[in-house]
Amino acid sequence: MGLNVYSKTHVLFAIIGLVSILVDVDASASKCDLFQGNWVLDKSYPLYNESTCPFLEKEFNCVNNGRPDRSYLKYRWQPRGCHLFRFDGQNFLEKLRGKTIMFVGDSLSRNQWLSMLCIIHSSMPKANYAVNISLVKDMTTYTFTDYNVQVTYHHNLYLVDIVKQRFGRVLKLDVLTAGKLWLDVDYLVFNTWHWWNRRGASQPFDYIQDGSRIYKDMDRVVAFGKAVVTWGKWVDANVTQNKTKVFFQGISPSHYNGTDWGEPKAKSCSGQKSPLLASKYPGVSPPALAVLKSSLKTIKKPVTLLDITNLSLLRKDGHPSSYGLGAVDCSHWCLAGVPDTWNVLLYNLMF
Ligand SMILES: *[C@@H]1O[C@H](CO)[C@@H](O)[C@H](O)[C@H]1NC(C)=O
Ligand SMILES: *[C@@H]1O[C@H](CO)[C@@H](O)[C@H](O)[C@H]1NC(C)=O
Ligand SMILES: *[C@@H]1O[C@H](CO)[C@@H](O)[C@H](O)[C@H]1NC(C)=O
Ligand SMILES: *[C@@H]1O[C@H](CO)[C@@H](O)[C@H](O)[C@H]1NC(C)=O
Ligand SMILES: *[C@@H]1O[C@H](CO)[C@@H](O)[C@H](O)[C@H]1NC(C)=O
Ligand SMILES: *[C@@H]1O[C@H](CO)[C@@H](O)[C@H](O)[C@H]1NC(C)=O
Repeated sequence: MGLNVYSKTHVLFAIIGLVSILVDVDASASKCDLFQGNWVLDKSYPLYNESTCPFLEKEFNCVNNGRPDRSYLKYRWQPRGCHLFRFDGQNFLEKLRGKTIMFVGDSLSRNQWLSMLCIIHSSMPKANYAVNISLVKDMTTYTFTDYNVQVTYHHNLYLVDIVKQRFGRVLKLDVLTAGKLWLDVDYLVFNTWHWWNRRGASQPFDYIQDGSRIYKDMDRVVAFGKAVVTWGKWVDANVTQNKTKVFFQGISPSHYNGTDWGEPKAKSCSGQKSPLLASKYPGVSPPALAVLKSSLKTIKKPVTLLDITNLSLLRKDGHPSSYGLGAVDCSHWCLAGVPDTWNVLLYNLMF
């Protein structure tokens, strides 16, 4: 019997050895850049059925809004030189037991947050959950109660503050007070960019303040870069390094001009049914990405950039176009769809 136990243990160790050899070529292999690769057809995709996800909002539910083509749902991101683990919702909840994850940012963060909830739900359809909506702070939390895992979205357009003053609303590039809502969260995933380019009636501020100087306007990419530096100071001052893991969701690209992907006749993403299968996008990378990367370099504590820009650029087919809220939308993403891949990448980098 003793020998039997010994040989069983032996077999077990042999299996562990084999697994660790396999793991070597997997996502944990430090040499592999998870963000370089290409999109491949995968019959097992999408990761969930949008009509059975209780969290999904109309804005992103393209199938339900009448989008007729389906092949955009079937693409999986394949990094060059390694494999990504599939997002396993049960493993995720077990690893996060008693913990919290929060997405902070604009509607692109909401896009990713809802994707994550749908992925978890599809692997754990019977998991109990409760919702807590706090409108004052623009926070919505779903708690998977059996695991006590909180998945929160904090709607926050600029990360830095907008303050109402006598003469108007001032966007303050070096003031950040929302951070008190982010303390003690275990995983934080930030994003801001799309609103920095808003002008006219939908721009929610009248002036921009940088230090003691107040401007009517300034270069928005520069302003964005300064705000990311301010956010980085918050990270350095207030993140508990061995408790909280911090991610920044890179610049999510839009597709409004077909010249960028070699189809000059395309005036938007409307009618795009398949991704570019190349590993490199022919158009230019958004200038905000380079600014983001240099601002992130000013941060001393570890921040992981979820560098989703290039892989998302290839997905001209991934937007709602007219199957979102009505107006042609080539900025957000259909769900199921591209943000599921952002979450697969996040999952591979979290643990
Ligand atoms: C994204 O594309 C740009 C321009 O082609 C390139 O410089 C950069 O290295 C790429 N980044 C990743 C993560 O692939
Ligand atoms: C998604 O679920 C709905 C409702 O259960 C079902 O009618 C539909 O066939 C499913 N779609 C796929 C692609 O499995
Ligand atoms: C809901 O959120 C608010 C604000 O964060 C908090 O005070 C309250 O305790 C929460 N309620 C539940 C049931 O979790
Ligand atoms: C750190 O957090 C405290 C409390 O919220 C805040 O007063 C302080 O400004 C933060 N530090 C930075 C550099 O953001
Ligand atoms: C965090 O790290 C500090 C310094 O390395 C250490 O003193 C502390 O015990 C750690 N806390 C936890 C919860 O691991
Ligand atoms: C699309 O981009 C090209 C090249 O940058 C530019 O010449 C053209 O005016 C743009 N089209 C629209 C509709 O903005």
